[in-house]
Formats: sequence, structure tokens, C-alpha cells
Amino acid sequence: GFLAGVFSSAPAPAVAVKAEPLKIAVFYASQTGTAEGLARKLTKELKLKGYSASAISLEAYTSAALADERYAIFIVSTYGQGDAPDAVQPFYEQVCVEHFPRYENLQYAVFALGDRHYETFCKFGIDLDNKLATLGANRICERVECDVDIDAPFARWRQELFKRFEAIAAAPVTESNVPALNLDQVASASTRAPAEVTAPAATPTPTASASPSRDNPFFSTLVEKRSLTRNGSSKSTLHLTWSIADSGIRYDAGDACGIIPHNDPALVEDILRALHFSGEEPVEIPKAGTLPLKVALRHHLVVTKLSRKMIERYATTGRCKTLLSLLATEQQEHLEKYVYERGLVDLLEECPGVIHDAADLVAILPKLTPRLYSISSSPSTHLGEVHTTIAVVRYRSLNRERGGVCSTLVADRVPVGERVPIYIQPNKKFRLPQNPDTPVIMIGPGTGIAPFRAFLHERRVIGAKGRNWLFFGERNSANDYLYRDELEGMLADGHLTRLDTAFSRDQQHKVYVQDRMLEQAPQFWAWLQDGAGIYVCGDASRMAKDVDTTLHAIIEKQGGMSHESAKEYVRNLKDEHRYHRDVY
Ligand code: 2AM
Repeated sequence: GFLAGVFSSAPAPAVAVKAEPLKIAVFYASQTGTAEGLARKLTKELKLKGYSASAISLEAYTSAALADERYAIFIVSTYGQGDAPDAVQPFYEQVCVEHFPRYENLQYAVFALGDRHYETFCKFGIDLDNKLATLGANRICERVECDVDIDAPFARWRQELFKRFEAIAAAPVTESNVPALNLDQVASASTRAPAEVTAPAATPTPTASASPSRDNPFFSTLVEKRSLTRNGSSKSTLHLTWSIADSGIRYDAGDACGIIPHNDPALVEDILRALHFSGEEPVEIPKAGTLPLKVALRHHLVVTKLSRKMIERYATTGRCKTLLSLLATEQQEHLEKYVYERGLVDLLEECPGVIHDAADLVAILPKLTPRLYSISSSPSTHLGEVHTTIAVVRYRSLNRERGGVCSTLVADRVPVGERVPIYIQPNKKFRLPQNPDTPVIMIGPGTGIAPFRAFLHERRVIGAKGRNWLFFGERNSANDYLYRDELEGMLADGHLTRLDTAFSRDQQHKVYVQDRMLEQAPQFWAWLQDGAGIYVCGDASRMAKDVDTTLHAIIEKQGGMSHESAKEYVRNLKDEHRYHRDVY
């Protein structure tokens, strides 16, 4: 939700902790000090158990720093209309409103504090918990929400947490619990990207360092752009080929490509005009230094969507009537609709006179962050290239074309031959099985097909003998069958053992990939019994959940198991690294 708002002892037996103790960060967001008190207490206990723990305030903490943590505990308070404590608001916005970074390496748990008198009870904690899961982090313990009666729920939650940490500390070291190489740190010693990163073909490409990263990206030339959907489609999905020749870039099938976008210059002009600014006003941007306002608006700040800070500013200082009444009535849906239909420029035009200087504007705009796309090429087949499969997000409201910053950039404003800063975001948890003979089942509707195209090409070129089964879904077979020729070719020559498609809108009733899974339940179960790895990529909010439910149902029915045993079976699949999800 946009105006999201909130959250919320007896010593256990000593544990044998390994020579390298787990490093656990205990974060707190406190309004009155309760959350902080609990965090300090818990930190002490974790230390007594031999872990390396520290209590850290979320004030001034950043979403980027969180990406370096492996184990994080959040004890967070919600207050007022479901808000994070004031000083934690910037962190909250970074994590919950922006969509980057992903936290594939993070294991976490949330304890949420709140006031049951409010409808938005514990909302900050709930949102934080859900968002981290969406961003790829692994929840090690269910969230607990509580009000004034804290001690008993806290004690129970803490016991659960201790058990989980004991299990983690006792587990053998595997690839997935070894910290990933931090490319940002590797690259920090080398040259930084220039502040103005528009990429006309004439921009000199920084000398290729060993590993381009988010802070030191590679300026890649777009060498191919084609539509994967037909004209009549209700959607537009693009196949883009980026050159990485001489870049030093290496990647594996399963990794993502980060694209560093910039805003539409025409929109930036409209914003400057609405505010009567020239664009030359110097402004401070953290990490980038002093820049002319127009450069900051183009490259460093979100200027499309309305941020929470903007809404608040306009409602309070600006006394924007519409907003005040929307906030007063607390009608979440109306406010969401208002926010969906408008961007920054609309608010500037509708309620003039609120922003007076450039610094004022910069202070209420969130930071523009890279967008991540699962790579759809195979490093062994498509040498010197990275392919991405991108759904273009567009809609029209209040007489203005709107859409995703990055998808509309590559669709409309980057012609073939032009360069864009990119980098690789490794996804070590989404890898083909080490044994090439292991069968794989891949479930990837929509752009979720991307990593599976990479897997299929990769497995072909390395001569992997394992069987391949793909579930793909889209709206209409005539218009939206992404990579149809390739997939049907692979089926025809036997590289794909099975290909099951679900075109949801080809008939009256919706048919989804999970319906196809159910139809094939006996086969699906047989593959599982043969040790198949399962991979799911695509929409997290509905698809991945429904597929997970269906997986449980298949196991329950075909394996003649109770619901509990089916859950245990799936837990084992995860522990054995046989169930992988790349969902967004
Ligand atoms: P729909 O838009 O017709 O409902 C790729 O976006 C495909 O995923 C589309 O066919 C879309 O169908 C489908 N889809 C939507 N919700 C889904 C869900 N909960 N589970 C699986 N597929 C879903």
C-alpha cells in the first residue's frame, strides 16, 4: 500500500557455534524506546550465545547498506496512521517504495509493535516483512505483531528465532550461505561513472575494469531491439540485445542485468517550467556532488511517480485541498487512485507555489535506482552479448502518457547503436543443477520466461543430458507467445522434453500455468521423484504464490501425503536446493 504505515524472556540452552560466528544485525525503529529496548536485550542474548550481534538503529540506515547484511532482525514500531517513526521514514521509503536493491543473500525476521486502536496496526512491520520477501530475502521466522502485551509474544518469537539460528549455524557451509562477492566493493577503487550518463554514441566508454558494477557500470551498445509481441497484443514485450564485447563482463545463466535509467528530458522540461526554474540551479546529490538541477532531475531522482514525502508536503505546507480531504477521509483506495493517475508534474501544476527553491524540490524526490531484468541469453551460446526480455509498462491518465522509467526509456528513447550503462547482478540462488543429468522443471509465464531461455540455450551448448520441462503462460497465443519459434524448435528436436502453455485469454475462462501443472500432476510427481529441480520466475504477488500452492497440492495428492508432510517435502526441496524462485 502506498501510505503504508507500521509495526511491533528466558535464556535458551547454550549452542555450539562454529569458529566463524554468524554476524547478526538487530535493527530497531523506535518511537518511544520500546523497540530499542527489546533490540538491545536480544542483542545481548545473541552475544551470550556466541553470535556476533549488534543493535542498529534504522535511523539514517540505507537500503543499500542492508544488501551487505546476511542475517537481519527487525524490531519495529508503527505509530500514527501506520507510519514508521519519523527518522526511519527515509529508510522505509527506500525499501518499500523503491524496488531496488534485491536482497537475495539476506535472511531476516520481523517483530512488529503497534497500537490495535488503529486500523493500520503494525503496518510498518507488515509492509517491511512483505517487501523484503518480495525483494528476494529469506524469512527465517514468521512475523509476530503485538500491542501493549509484549513480553509473552516476544519470548515465544525469540525462542523460535534462536532455534532457527542454531539450525543455520549447524548447517554445513554451502554456496548459498557463503557471502556473495560484493562487486560494488571490488569496483569502488576504480573510476566512477560520470554524473551525466546519457549515452550518445560519442560518450567515451570508461576503460573496461575487471568487473563493471552498479557504481562503475559498462556503457553497453544496444545492438538489437525487436518486439516479441504482435501489434494486436494488449501488451508490449521487447527482446533487447546488449553488446558486452571487451567489457570484462562475465555472467551465468540465472543472473540479472541492471540497467541504469534516466528520465525523459521532455518531462524534466515540463517540471522545470511548472516551477519557473532554469535547470541550472546547483543542487547537492549524495555521492554525486553538486550538479545543475536539470542533470539531477534527469539522472538521479524519481520525477515520474508521487512519493509519500511529496504527498505529505503538499497536504500540510501546501494545503492542497484535494489531498487534504483524501488524507482526512483516510480512504486508501481513493488516495491510491489519485497517486496512480498523477505524477510530480501534475501536482506541481495543480497546486502551484508550494516548492520555492531547487533544494526544496530535491529534498522530496526519491533517488532514481537501477532496474534489474533477468538475463535471457546464455553466456556460452550468445558470446559477447546480454539479452533482456522487457515488458513495457505504459498507461495514459489525465491526458498524459505514463509508464515505467526504464522500460519506456529502452522502448522509446534508446535506438539501436546507442549506449546505456549496465552491470550484472549475480543471482547465485538461481542456477542450473550442477549435475547436467538432473531433470529441470521451469515455470515462467510472461517475462518470467527470460532465465529459462538462458537455461535452455546453456544446457544445449554444454550438452546436458537432463530432461527439460517448461511451463509458459501469456494472454493470447496469437500475439503474446514469446520466443515461440525457438521454443517450438526445441520441442521438435527433443531438447525440450515437454512444453506446456497456458494462454489465459484464448478462451472464456482463465487458464494459468498452475492449471497445466495440475493437469500433468502424475508426470510432475514422477519428475520430482526422479530428482528434478523446480524453477519459478515471474510475478511474485499472485503467480508465484499460486504455483507454490499448486506444488503443495500435487505433492499431497500424488504422494498420498498429509498437508503437513507435503510442506515438509517442499521444505526439503528447498534445503536440497531443488526449488528456486526468481520472483518480482
Ligand atoms: P491474465 O492477465 O489473463 O490474468 C503473463 O502475465 C500471464 O500470467 C498472463 O496470461 C496472465 O493472465 C497470467 N496470470 C495472471 N495471474 C496469474 C496467476 N495468479 N497465476 C498464474 N498466472 C497468472
